[in-house]
Amino acid sequence: MQPVALGGFMGTGKTTVGRKLAERLQFPFVDTDEVLVQRYGPIASQFAEWGEETFRAHEREVVLEHCDNKLRVLATGGGVWTSESLRWYLRESAYFCVVLTAPFEVLARRIQASGRPLVSVARELYDQRQQAYADADLRLDTHDLSEDQVIEAILCRL
Ligand code: S3P
Repeated sequence: MQPVALGGFMGTGKTTVGRKLAERLQFPFVDTDEVLVQRYGPIASQFAEWGEETFRAHEREVVLEHCDNKLRVLATGGGVWTSESLRWYLRESAYFCVVLTAPFEVLARRIQASGRPLVSVARELYDQRQQAYADADLRLDTHDLSEDQVIEAILCRL
């Protein structure tokens, strides 16, 4: 079986769900944001020091490094799915692509004090990205599901 990729807007729970899903499947877990932090430092500092364009270039490298058909659960930063080419690579290399969703109001509460660099434009990004997030094998609205329910819903579809 090839990787399972998780996408979706900031605050949808990709990292938490991805880590637990990987435990259940006994697959390694990789989170693109975590790799970027290990390599380049806190994400807010990366945006502040080098700007979004450089962040996206680094993020792209990390995603492509993991489009290699190896067994793993790969959680992606919220912007990854907005790149058509990265989506294509993920769809080609992953066994299954899941996008987690929730109403904006729910996500706004979760991310407002998180220090994420794009929080001030989150509403616009949320609206702009809906079409990109529609491109998945499974879209799961998580806002009234527990983590375990989300994981069971994904496992049922694998
Ligand atoms: C971003 C989402 C963040 C992080 C960066 C940019 C985005 O990841 O990659 O702040 O553009 O949506 P999470 O979705 O894990 O918060």
